[in-house]
Amino acid sequence: MGKILIKNIKGLVQFGENLPKVRKGVEMKELPVLENAFLALEDGVIVAYGAMEDWGGITDWRDLEVIDAEGKFVLPAFCDSHTHTVFAQSREEEFVDRINGLSYEEIAIRGGGILNSARKLQEMSETDLFNHAMERIERLQSYGTGAIEIKSGYGLTVEAELKMLRVIKRIKSESSIAIKATFLGAHAFPPAFKENHAGYIDQIVNEMLPQIEKEGLADYIDVFCERNYFSVDEMATILEAGIKHGLQPKVHVNQFSTIGGVRKAVELNALSVDHMEEISDDDIDALKGSTTIATILPSCSHFLSIPFGDARKLMENDLPVALASDFNPGSTPSGNLMFVWSLACVKMKMTPEEALNALTLNAAYAMDLSDTHGTISLGKKTPIILTKQLPSIAYIPYSFGDQHIDRLIIA
Ligand code: NIG
Ligand code: FE
Repeated sequence: MGKILIKNIKGLVQFGENLPKVRKGVEMKELPVLENAFLALEDGVIVAYGAMEDWGGITDWRDLEVIDAEGKFVLPAFCDSHTHTVFAQSREEEFVDRINGLSYEEIAIRGGGILNSARKLQEMSETDLFNHAMERIERLQSYGTGAIEIKSGYGLTVEAELKMLRVIKRIKSESSIAIKATFLGAHAFPPAFKENHAGYIDQIVNEMLPQIEKEGLADYIDVFCERNYFSVDEMATILEAGIKHGLQPKVHVNQFSTIGGVRKAVELNALSVDHMEEISDDDIDALKGSTTIATILPSCSHFLSIPFGDARKLMENDLPVALASDFNPGSTPSGNLMFVWSLACVKMKMTPEEALNALTLNAAYAMDLSDTHGTISLGKKTPIILTKQLPSIAYIPYSFGDQHIDRLIIA
């Protein structure tokens, strides 16, 4: 990649040294912006930044690409800590069913939803799954995403779950951005185990997890803890087994109901509790003093017409909030984090600064990438967003649905 100098930057956003690993509560309003700045990268690593007038000049101009960012902003790439980017096919027929009156839960009970995606994925080859996912990742990058967590969970058999995770492993090695893999075998009970939950959990614990550890296929373990899916006790059994195989919990909880999943996940040292469309006072108490971050997925709320997670309540209780896309064919067919930013502002009353913290610094924490991503800091190798010419940073969530990104600069 060589050396890049970005000069005349209108605003260098989310920069600094020795920044906290998360911003919580009122700290989420803090967003450092340096006006009229420069940024220097060497092989993708941030080696210098500062005000244009303090710029000492470059002595070695060999192989130096100079970018004039007049009127443009520079920010760390978004981190998407919750996606289901590997899937076989879109599900717009269910979207039409919902317009005609069925609910997401009703469609799932009829064998649509996750089970629909699982049937299609079981039939698709690893190569096709890989190629489709890579095309999607390229699109996500064009929207400013510079790191992606990807879950399994559309396999639901030993063979198909391992197939999905091998695809994610290949994406990890071939993608130009950071990828984290999450094992979500407990996404739904396959039809054959509808009346035999213990049988499927046994497969997860005794067949899938040992092989996942052996092949190094996952970083995290996830469970969809929800009525009609996995109970709190079932989730605990699966997470405890995952922990024994070296996987930290990172879970789906509180999408439709609060059944105690948050407290249990915190007890098991979950890195994040995701969805959180519903939040009880007990959930807030459980999160206080923990290292678990609540991650809200507003595009899912938008698409399913369900409540938006109460970010203000979390922040009023001095807790941190992260935002992610939940990109998947059923509940969130868009992985555009600029749109998530806008929804967070419009529907959740987060300020543009709070929401950007939730998409960068806090999101990096939610996928263990604080050392490399989430802020513009010396020595970090984070992809960098160069915006188009914009009047302000707030203009991005304000002018929703537009493409504001000029380019993502990746090592
Ligand atoms: O996070 N809620 C569980 N899983 C996904 C949706 C899966 C699907 O509908 O395919 C989610 O929203
Ligand atoms: Fe999800």
